[in-house]
Amino acid sequence: MASPKTPLAPLSPQSTYAESALPAPIQKLERVTALVQAQSLAFLMFEKPDLEAVENFLTDFGMHRVSLNKDQLVMRGSGCAPCIYIARRGQHSRYLGASFTVASEHDLLLLQSQADARRLPPGAIPGGGAGVELVDPAGNLLWLIKGATPVDPIPVRSPLYPLTNGPGITRRINTTVRPPLEPAAVNRLGHLVLQTIDFAGMARWYMRHLGIIPTDVQYLADGSPNLCFFRLDLGSTPADHHTLVIVGGLENKYEHSAYEVVDLDALGQGSNILRTKGHRHMWGIGRHILGSQLFDYWFDPDGLEFEHYTDGDVFTADHETHYSPLDLAGIWAWGDDVPKSMGPQRNLSTLLKIFSLLFKGQLSMSRLKLLGQAMSAPPRPWL
Ligand SMILES: [Fe+2]
Repeated sequence: MASPKTPLAPLSPQSTYAESALPAPIQKLERVTALVQAQSLAFLMFEKPDLEAVENFLTDFGMHRVSLNKDQLVMRGSGCAPCIYIARRGQHSRYLGASFTVASEHDLLLLQSQADARRLPPGAIPGGGAGVELVDPAGNLLWLIKGATPVDPIPVRSPLYPLTNGPGITRRINTTVRPPLEPAAVNRLGHLVLQTIDFAGMARWYMRHLGIIPTDVQYLADGSPNLCFFRLDLGSTPADHHTLVIVGGLENKYEHSAYEVVDLDALGQGSNILRTKGHRHMWGIGRHILGSQLFDYWFDPDGLEFEHYTDGDVFTADHETHYSPLDLAGIWAWGDDVPKSMGPQRNLSTLLKIFSLLFKGQLSMSRLKLLGQAMSAPPRPWL
């Protein structure tokens, strides 16, 4: 039998600390007073050169077309949101921004008077309603909207887990499991991950304009926060572990967005469909640690990342913020090794980005070293 390259070692210990018991030198993520409490993540907006190609991908990914004309593609899931994805036709493939719902017209007026938000013209929002537009410090749009008309859900199959058998558990007798070979029906848009060169500034800005709560903060070796999983503040109503993730890095960039499907078999059969149709797989199937969800990542036709997920954690607003060290090993519990594309790219383009950030004073040598340290430790040394 071949011996392992290195002795087997346990996974990253995943040491976590509650915010009320943070040891030095871990620094608390400073909070800011929020203007409003966002109620849900409504849809994302992209610019795309080929709307037909992206529609093909999203259909195989499990969404449904609402409308397509020469300028814009609008897609929905099977849930009651009238729209979860918009692509405007343009020269480049790029992320434009996100739209969240707020509770009232009063919130929109407050954002106009306190944050210089611009009122959206009538008809701008697929699904209707009113809204305002802000621009985040990295130049991404943030729409806050209210009053969109919900649509009837599209019927989908029931989850299979109530029929799962196990040792001493026989829920399924005289019948079989045959999940249909079909796209993984996307129920809803779950979360968005953005990379930023100014972690503290972006985290502050989104906390102020969305009222989001840090669920899990990850810190660099000097104790400085560099990544945060934020959830919505819905009071005693459970909210997803993360709806927005901000991660510090070498560029301002859309990382990925994630869409909820019904169960693990949907991830598996959805993966079969996407492979059969020739789409490019990125990573999965596996289980994340922070958020706990089962995941499967795919590239759209232009290389942007889209995640299918199921079985994520939810927390009420009173759940305390926790802190853990940032490293690649902490990203997932099991599944294939993390793809190289998720770590730092050692190439000329990265080098140029670093020189530019150093020159503009947006990055220090010590922070560069800390970022390199966090991302270069092999996550699974025995693989
Ligand atoms: Fe994700």
